[in-house]
Formats: sequence, structure tokens, C-alpha cells
Amino acid sequence: MKTIFITGASSGIGKEISLKFLSNGYKVVAASRRIELLEKIKSENENGINYLPYKLDLSDFIKAGAILKKITTENEIDTLVNNAGTTTFTSASEDSVEKIKNIIDINLLGSILAIKSVLPKMMNKNSGTIINILSVVTEKIFTKSSVYSASKAGLLAYTNVLREEVRTNNIKIINVIPGATKTPIWHPKAIEKNSERMMSPKEMASVIYEMHSLNGIMVPEQLTLRPIQGDL
Ligand SMILES: NC(=O)c1ccc[n+]([C@@H]2O[C@H](COP(=O)([O-])OP(=O)(O)OC[C@H]3O[C@@H](n4cnc5c(N)ncnc54)[C@H](OP(=O)(O)O)[C@@H]3O)[C@@H](O)[C@H]2O)c1
Repeated sequence: MKTIFITGASSGIGKEISLKFLSNGYKVVAASRRIELLEKIKSENENGINYLPYKLDLSDFIKAGAILKKITTENEIDTLVNNAGTTTFTSASEDSVEKIKNIIDINLLGSILAIKSVLPKMMNKNSGTIINILSVVTEKIFTKSSVYSASKAGLLAYTNVLREEVRTNNIKIINVIPGATKTPIWHPKAIEKNSERMMSPKEMASVIYEMHSLNGIMVPEQLTLRPIQGDL
């Protein structure tokens, strides 16, 4: 049984990716701060035995390192999905240093820590897949998203370099670049106003599953997913 480790599995895109892989016979290592939500998913799912919740706060560098070590010691991770993420919809001049640090810690540093935790075993066994959930902010300028954009562009740059370094280790690096998707990261009023123009996290999970299922020597290195009507 193949094992997929998903960060930010308690809601939105991460939750739907977890459910998709779980229902397709994967062991799912699901991590986020709200362990009670992960436990609920486990207890309510018919394949709950293969769903392993871990409480993980990526904003706490030291504690996160210890949990990541526990996860990779207790499980043979075939695929990592760096999905946990946060943002503020505020201007650069309004952002406090604490907010800035929090976003960089979770979105960029947290993802790099997760990669570092799975990489040695993947390199040893000459196989593995790392999927990063980035954002269209890496392709286009959105105001009130300066730190978020920096964090996602930083992870894109980091993993583009990493990809070249691990090609000979048969490790796939897939960067997913989604546009507006209906999840709790948005204010409910924004969803209410733009609902018709926002993608479904469930459909996104299906696309990611199909992309991950490709066999052979071909890998989709980068995939942009936008609503047909474009960005909000
Ligand atoms: N929705 C969109 O329009 C959109 C577009 C482009 C990209 N994305 C990206 O998609 C990813 C998933 O977001 P979403 O839209 O599905 O939003 P979401 O429903 O708010 O999910 C965010 C997830 O990240 C986790 N998380 C937040 N802070 C964390 C921390 N300190 N440590 C560990 N986990 C943490 C949350 O879990 P806990 O609160 O339980 O920790 C939650 O499971 C993010 O990286 C986001 O940037 C979203």
C-alpha cells in the first residue's frame, strides 16, 4: 500500500486530496493543528483504518521538526503534498512583523522542513513524489498579498532548484498553481459573492489524483488551474 503525507489536511483542498487518495486505496498520513477535525474524518470514513492523523503546527519550527521526524520514522512516505497554507488579505504597509513571520514560517519554511524530512528516504529508495500547492500569485500580481506571494514564489524557486538536484534520484516534483477555490481560506462573504467563479476543492483533488497516477517517464512539472472566467 502506497503512503501519501498531506499537510493542512483538516479542511479545503488538503482535506479533499486526503479523501480522494484514501478512497483509492492509499494510506494517508494527515497533518494539521486541528487534530480533532482529523480524528473526525478518521472515525467517519469507511477506510479510516488507513488514515493516520498527526497534530502538526508548522509555525513552530522546533516542535514541527520533532513531529516530522516522528511521521517519517513511523511511515514510509511515497508522496508528500505541501498543502498547509495561510494568508492575510492586507497591504504590505499594514502587515505586522509577526504576521509576516507567521506566513513565511508556515507556507515557505514549513514546506521546506517537510521536504527535508522525506527527502533522505526518497533519495535512498530512488523514488518519490513531492507536490506543492502554490498559487496564481506566482504568475500574476495581486495587491494585498505581498507576503503570501513571496512565500509561494519562494517555494516555487526552491523546488525548481531541488527538481534539478534530484532528477537522477527519480523524484518527481509537481508544482500546482491554483486560482480561486471555494475553501475556508476565503471570507464567507467573498465566497458568497464569487461562488459561481470559484473552483471546487473536490474537483481539484481529482485532477491532482489523476496527475499523480501517471506512470512511465512523463511528469507534469507545473500545472495552472484557473476558473474559466479567470481570476477574481
Ligand atoms: N483557496 C484558494 O483559492 C487557493 C488558491 C491558491 C492556492 N491555495 C493554497 O491551497 C492550500 C490549501 O488552502 P485552502 O484554500 O484549502 O484553505 P484552508 O481550508 O484554510 O486550509 C488550510 C490548511 O492549512 C492548515 N494550516 C494552517 N496553518 C497551519 C499551521 N500553522 N500548521 C499546520 N497546518 C496549518 C489548516 O489546518 P489547521 O488550521 O487545522 O492547522 C488547513 O488544513 C494553501 O497552501 C493555499 O495557499 C488556495
